[in-house]
Formats: sequence, C-alpha cells, structure tokens
Amino acid sequence: MKTIFSGIQPSGTITLGNYIGALSQFVELQDEYNCFFCIVDQHAITVPQDRMVLRNNIRSLAALYLAVGIDPNKATLFIQSEVPAHAQGAWLMQCISYIGELERMTQFKDKSTGKDAVSAALLTYPPLMAADILLYSTDIVPVGEDQKQHLELTRDLAERFNKKYNDILTIPEVRIPKVGARIMSLQDPTKKMSKSDTNNKATITLLDEPAQITKKIKSAVTDSEGIVKFDRENKPGVSNLLSIYSILSGESIQSLEEKYEGKGYGDFKSDLANVVVDALKPIQEKYNELMNSTELDDILDEGAAKANKVAGKMIKKMENAMGLGRKRR
Ligand code: TYM
Repeated sequence: MKTIFSGIQPSGTITLGNYIGALSQFVELQDEYNCFFCIVDQHAITVPQDRMVLRNNIRSLAALYLAVGIDPNKATLFIQSEVPAHAQGAWLMQCISYIGELERMTQFKDKSTGKDAVSAALLTYPPLMAADILLYSTDIVPVGEDQKQHLELTRDLAERFNKKYNDILTIPEVRIPKVGARIMSLQDPTKKMSKSDTNNKATITLLDEPAQITKKIKSAVTDSEGIVKFDRENKPGVSNLLSIYSILSGESIQSLEEKYEGKGYGDFKSDLANVVVDALKPIQEKYNELMNSTELDDILDEGAAKANKVAGKMIKKMENAMGLGRKRR
C-alpha cells in the first residue's frame, strides 16, 4: 500500500481554500492509501504566535480534520511537535540544503520582504517540511498549488541525500487537485485565500456562522459586467466564486454558467452562500461534538505513538547513513 503524508499549519482557523485544496482530498484518499495527516505546529511558530491562541488552534484543527471525515481507524492523525523525529530530521535536511535555494522559495520571499525581524526558521522552513514527508517514506503528497515549489525542493533534497549517503529515502510525488488547487481571496481575487489574512472579509473559515458566510459572499469582489462566466484572467472574482460553487455542489462550471445566464450576480451569490452554508453545517456540528469530548486526545495520543514508531526508525537510518553517533547494533 502506498503512503501519503500531508500537513496543515494551525496558524488560524482553516479556510475554504484549505478545505477545497487539501482537506477534502484527504478524505477520499484514506481508503486507498496508508495516510499520515499532521498538524504542523512547528511550522506555525516560524512567525510569531500567541501561545494560548496557538494551543487552541492546534486542538481545533485536530477536531476539524476529524469533522470533515478523517477516520482515525484508517489514517494516522498527529501533532508534529509530539514526534521529535521531525525536528531531528529537519536538522539533517538543513545540513544538505543550500542557502541560495532556500532564499529562492516564493513563500520565503513573500513572508520576509519588507519585514524587519525575519526568523531564521522562515528560511529553513522547507527542510522541516522535507523531513515531515521523507520520514514516512511518502509516495504521494496531496497539497494545494502554493506548496508545489516546496515539494520540488523536497524531491531535490531526497535525491541529494540518496546520492551522497545511502539510497534510503523515497522520492515523493506531488498531487495537486485539477480544480480548486488555488482558491482566491474574496476581497482580492488575484491573491490566494489565506488563513493568516488580516482582512476577515477575504476568507471564509470552516467555522464561520451562516450569517457571516452570506455577508462575506455578498461582499465578494467581482466586476461590473454582471455576467456569470468563467474567465480567470478577465473575471478572477466571478471565476473564483464559480470554482467554489462547482466543487461544493458537484455541478459543472458550464451548467452553472447556463443556470445564471441573464441573471446577474445577486441570485448567483445568494445561492452560492446557501451552498457553502449547507456544505459546512454537518462539519460544524461534528466539530462541536468533538471539541467537547475526550475522544480527541485519545486519537491524538494514538496517532503520535504510531507516527513516532515509523519516523523514529527512519531517523535512525538517516543518522546512521550520515555517520552520526555510534554505529547501532
Ligand atoms: P498551509 O497550512 O498553508 O495549507 C494547508 C493546505 O491547504 C492548501 N491551501 C490551499 N489550497 C487551495 N487554495 C488555497 N487558497 C489554499 N491555501 C492553502 C495548501 O496548499 C496545503 O496543502 N507548508 C504547508 C504545511 C506543511 C506540509 C508539510 C504540507 C508542512 N509540512 C508536508 C504537506 C506535506 C503549509 O503551510 O500549508
């Protein structure tokens, strides 16, 4: 059985972008693959976090993974900082990374440009991500489009390691969904929807109330043409809303264009708001149940134990290959 690994940062409540681009795919994949899904809290601290908020976001993200349909009997769900091999592996990966290639990462450039105090970890974030993936001999990594560059670097680092030391790392493939790989901000449809966006109207989170969702969709930036048509270049706002509508309702873009022909944006937006509210309702109900139960801690304990076993073995193999410590008997 092939192995899948993916992670989400607990750096805010996750958005419709995370759901469509990543989480919703995870649910389908857990039946066919040996899956590891991670709450990557060590990635979240590469930028400042309030510790109480972070702790809450970690728990909330764990509950959301389960609420969307991740089944702990099929997949391993765990918190990154509870598996020390990730930080250990990150160090090994940093030792084979070049500063130049890390500085070329667009996410590093976006997050560091114009900032006074940039943490060193923002630069060394991709080697940590590479370790996350490589520790589990991952075959496939399902992610949204924004992570593609990090995946390419992961493959390069794995190949470099195998060539330099010992051929022990699996070279992972990236899996990006055909539709919905890049859900855009509702306020600036040329920018991706991001959970760290300070403009609250730009994102829909999985925990937004129905009234908030409706308000945000009604105020989503479109254009003055009044025609519901998919044209990413000239009509990025409408195209983004059409993608969300199509994915959550299962109706094709073409049939939606026909449905709203001659109707303007009012009806389109209010129907879309209902589609989003209906899609999130069962997730929110399950989420509330889980947050009030002890089940969540049991699942995370078990997940950490399973992950520690697999990752612990690989870290020993990697250290051995690099000549660290004493040869283990
Ligand atoms: P993060 O937490 O920013 O996002 C989690 C997942 O959601 C996808 N995503 C989107 N997809 C579509 N439209 C959007 N607007 C959108 N925004 C985010 C991301 O591509 C991602 O799949 N570095 C990663 C976390 C990570 C990881 C890993 C992922 C750490 N280690 C190992 C895979 C494997 C990140 O910051 O994702």
